[in-house]
Amino acid sequence: MKERPGEPRPTTRVRVLPHDELCPAGLIFDARQGRKLVDELLAHGVAIEHACEKVGACATCHVHVRSGAEFVAAVTEDEEDQLDDAWGLDAQSRLSCCVRVLGPELVIELPRFTRNHAREN
Ligand code: FES
Repeated sequence: MKERPGEPRPTTRVRVLPHDELCPAGLIFDARQGRKLVDELLAHGVAIEHACEKVGACATCHVHVRSGAEFVAAVTEDEEDQLDDAWGLDAQSRLSCCVRVLGPELVIELPRFTRNHAREN
């Protein structure tokens, strides 16, 4: 994605569904396209875990992409391997550090627990 000087960077509307701890009222924000979803969530106040510092090696940044998944790059084999360890895995599961924001809208659901929490409980 090329940026032209003076032109605003395209954005994607991100809708985060309510989550008891991280985002009780839900949240809607415009994310910069091309950035990692985890970075945009953090920048907008959603304190999602990212234990491996966003290199796709821990699965603590697991999210469900409930809508808009068709606009972002498909899951890779490495991401899939990590996702196997995520709590509450389903067909819409992604690692938010592996997803680059793209498309008109993404609807994100945060899992109730992370891999770390699940281990503690
Ligand atoms: S932050 Fe570790 S897999 Fe995303």
